[in-house]
Amino acid sequence: MRLKDKVALITGASSGIGAGVAARFAAEGAYVALNFRPGSAPDREAAERAVAGFTTRAVAVEGDVSDRAQVEAMVDRVVRELGRLDVCVCNAGIEVRRDFLDTTDEEWHRVLGVNLFGAFAVSQAAARVMVRQGGGGRLLFMSSVHEDIPFPGYTSYCASKGAVRMLMRNLAMELAPHRITVNNIAPGAIATPINRAVLEDPVAYANAVSEIPLGRFGTPEDVAAVATFLASDEAGYVTGSTYYVDGGLTQQVTLY
Ligand code: NAI
Repeated sequence: MRLKDKVALITGASSGIGAGVAARFAAEGAYVALNFRPGSAPDREAAERAVAGFTTRAVAVEGDVSDRAQVEAMVDRVVRELGRLDVCVCNAGIEVRRDFLDTTDEEWHRVLGVNLFGAFAVSQAAARVMVRQGGGGRLLFMSSVHEDIPFPGYTSYCASKGAVRMLMRNLAMELAPHRITVNNIAPGAIATPINRAVLEDPVAYANAVSEIPLGRFGTPEDVAAVATFLASDEAGYVTGSTYYVDGGLTQQVTLY
């Protein structure tokens, strides 16, 4: 019970890594708010189903992280219903595969709107609550190995994640006086819906696995284990860092 009685908000928690982090946090004793995006019945149902299955108090909270008003309403609701906010995991993210020369303004703004503005708005709203409460807090961003490694065909995604790296490092400085720690988790290839195309194509899957030194895709549980550590009291002296959860992928790419 490493997160006993802590209140945690996780964005994009109806699937994949966010759902895995929410489940692990609840199992560790946290009260969890699972954010899901509006306009998707399956996302709403998944978040509500997860909440119903937890033994600790939990709520499913709707909200588009790329919309300031919805972010403020979501954070207000979490504090109203769960009493406070100790941990915020900015996890919601999207990607668009498009060559740089063909990328449209709409695609660029859509990806940066969720991945970067969403991370900014959610972490800012959460940090304001934590500062008001006193007693510190934990901000985690789900960045990517692509905060560092280029990925042809995904320029908007890489730009957003690279920017989240600097967002995190700056916040670590600015929020340290408030004892709010700020860290990134950089997953490699994790078996989640965002990678559906690769997971469903045996050749692409074999190629992807061949590049991972540990020889397998990661799981949401692999990521949740690191998130649990970073959210816990044990990580009180850890701030401004990126934790790679990538089966060695980053090192492999660096070799060549
Ligand atoms: P996923 O597609 O299952 O999860 C993304 C979640 O974000 C979904 O639940 C989606 O509904 C939600 N979302 C999208 N737009 C939103 C919005 N405007 N407002 C609120 N929620 C929104 O994929 P996965 O893998 O779980 O992704 C989670 C995070 O991990 C993302 O930030 C992604 O970039 C990052 N990541 C994932 C990797 C992987 O291999 N799966 C690798 C590196 C990073």
